Amino acid sequence: SSAHDAASASSFSSCLAIHGVSNFSLPASPSYNTTLNFSIRNLRFTLPDVTRPAAIVLPGSKEDLQRAILCARNSSLAIRVRSGGHSYEGLSYTTENHVPFVVIDLMNLNRVRVDSVSATTWAEAGATLGELYYAVGQSSRSLAFSGGSCSTIGLGGVISGGGFGLLSRKFGLAADNVLDAVLVDPNGRVLDRSSMGEDVFWAIRGGGGGSWGVVYAWKLRLVPVPHNITMFIIDRTGPVEYIAGLVHWWQHVGPNLPDEFYLSVYFPTGSSDGNVSISFEGQVLGTKQQTLSVLSQSFPMLGVTESDLSEMSWVESTAKFANVGTVSDLSNRSPGTNSYTKSKSDYVRAPISRHDMVEIVRYLSAGPSGSIILDPYGGAMARIKSNATPFPHRAGILYSIQYTVYWGQSDQARANEYIIWLRSLYTYMTPHVSKDPRGAYVNYLDLDLGANNWTHPMGGSSMEAMARARSSWGAAYFRNNFNRLVSAKTTIDPSNVFNNAQSIPPLY
Ligand code: FDA
Repeated sequence: SSAHDAASASSFSSCLAIHGVSNFSLPASPSYNTTLNFSIRNLRFTLPDVTRPAAIVLPGSKEDLQRAILCARNSSLAIRVRSGGHSYEGLSYTTENHVPFVVIDLMNLNRVRVDSVSATTWAEAGATLGELYYAVGQSSRSLAFSGGSCSTIGLGGVISGGGFGLLSRKFGLAADNVLDAVLVDPNGRVLDRSSMGEDVFWAIRGGGGGSWGVVYAWKLRLVPVPHNITMFIIDRTGPVEYIAGLVHWWQHVGPNLPDEFYLSVYFPTGSSDGNVSISFEGQVLGTKQQTLSVLSQSFPMLGVTESDLSEMSWVESTAKFANVGTVSDLSNRSPGTNSYTKSKSDYVRAPISRHDMVEIVRYLSAGPSGSIILDPYGGAMARIKSNATPFPHRAGILYSIQYTVYWGQSDQARANEYIIWLRSLYTYMTPHVSKDPRGAYVNYLDLDLGANNWTHPMGGSSMEAMARARSSWGAAYFRNNFNRLVSAKTTIDPSNVFNNAQSIPPLY
């Protein structure tokens, strides 16, 4: 009942106040809406039917964070943790089943300390990738971090789920470069790598955010890069057969290039005239000359010329790919625009035939506004063992596909139509992608794959919850790593304090 919710919120706020935590908002506070909306990246979760938190707390220290967890538990409020707010399904600031809850928002825990001598950094989990990249770039022109491409993503979420980026073919995922971490567990205890134990330390590096406790900070390995690297974005427009031919050939090139090369495909859906457009986005840890000599050999059909290529520092290239103006804009936490979106993902193990590619390109160009992104794997991604971290999509994966539809406020009435189109595209792609299980990337969260049901506080019988998860989203995201995640969960959070629609269920 709302009276009961108000009582919980008031007990929560007096608990915080007694313990000296002053930075929080209740629904009646003037700051509540701005604070809640500041990190909402998907406008689907601003609609009136979405349950809003009973309070939002913004810890300014590790001690505030411990108290926020304990006060929420004392007031019988569920907890959602938010770093950058990029969750595709809004899991960092919503709950299913209308359970009263608080959001612990880490946006003020965003300090990054770089040690260029040891090539490591300690970064608080509320920092964004952009804030991290900026700090690394300031400290040295020859160091970098291997993470994702969008600068406003939070380290709390992206590293918890893996973190694929332009350097991953050379240096692996963000999660592959974690050396240590500070985790605040459900009892408010502060644990590091040795005190949390190897199973939990393994689980937090790719097993998905929101299941284990709150990561307060990550110790990360920085990687060496040349003073200048090469980047390019090459647009091509033409008839369906021509574009399909390029993508068909790319499948053989992208995953097999030297590790220093990242070459991805960006395909906007719903072309209005007869022609189709795509972009090839590339980053090379090398010179223009090296880029030209490799690409003219392996991908002559693309027709790359020297004028397509630019040399710059790694951090400058990162700002370009993040689509922000300058390097210092990398640390701006507010993106320009947000829209309503829905995404899904797939993995491809065998090249799609040229004939099928023509049909796929035709299907995509007839769709609504959206994008398809093909990210090349291979290189280090294939050399890291599939059980080294919970992220299982390693050797044998050629590339990932991310499908997204997006729309604006004025098109809100057609939202269902767009989502239904995306689901039918996903069905249409079935013969061409991984199977048994069909893979998906946990950072491209997709509740269509299945969801926990916590109407019973522990999700019914825990064996049932586990079996349901393992046969649907659990297998898609984690394949054979799922069982070890369940055992890590049972160790760190046996009473399931940190749960969400796709959190790992404990056994009890
Ligand atoms: P958010 O705050 O929403 O958290 C996501 C999940 O992690 C939630 O379940 C949350 O509770 C939990 N969580 C957050 N902070 C935590 C903490 N400190 N401790 C424990 N749990 C925590 N991915 C990628 O790999 N490469 C890429 O290039 C991109 N690009 C990209 C672009 C755009 C525009 C979007 C919207 C998303 C991506 N992603 C991506 C996906 C992204 O990695 C994924 O959405 C991350 O979970 C986002 O992390 P945030 O902290 O921003 O999200």
